[in-house]
Amino acid sequence: MISKTMEQALNKQVNREFYSAYLYLAMSSYFETVNMKGFAHWMRIQAKEEQVHAVKIYDYIIARGGKVNLLDIEAPKAKWSSAGKVFEEVYAHEQKVTAMINSLVDLAIKEKDHASFEMLQWFVKEQVEEEEHSSTILAQVQCIGDIPGHLFCLDHQLGKRE
Ligand code: FEO
Repeated sequence: MISKTMEQALNKQVNREFYSAYLYLAMSSYFETVNMKGFAHWMRIQAKEEQVHAVKIYDYIIARGGKVNLLDIEAPKAKWSSAGKVFEEVYAHEQKVTAMINSLVDLAIKEKDHASFEMLQWFVKEQVEEEEHSSTILAQVQCIGDIPGHLFCLDHQLGKRE
């Protein structure tokens, strides 16, 4: 059985993962408004991945005999000034999520909760990828700057994400 402290901390993380989905969906809708369909597609897939992350923790809480408490999801902002600004925020957000996952791992160690520790290792690895992907796209967007042809090529490339 999961401890109340861990249950509460994991419920908070379920909420943050759903917030991530909301944030990326908002970014996707922003890219739709500026006709960057590839970027919009990439963000939409990212939003779906975040929902999978949330439900993974949701399922784990239930499997451990805990209670899921779905909390209010904060509304994300709806407008950005450029693709570069969006990806600066994505990278910063993923770094924040990594810190949250690390805190959960610290809690699992403190509570000698081996099952939660084991479950969280998936997220530790996932965050390495999340940071790598967002920082790579950020670097590409920054390198391209305002060259429309190159931005169009990147948009096309991001539109291929499966
Ligand atoms: Fe669920 Fe993007 O971390």
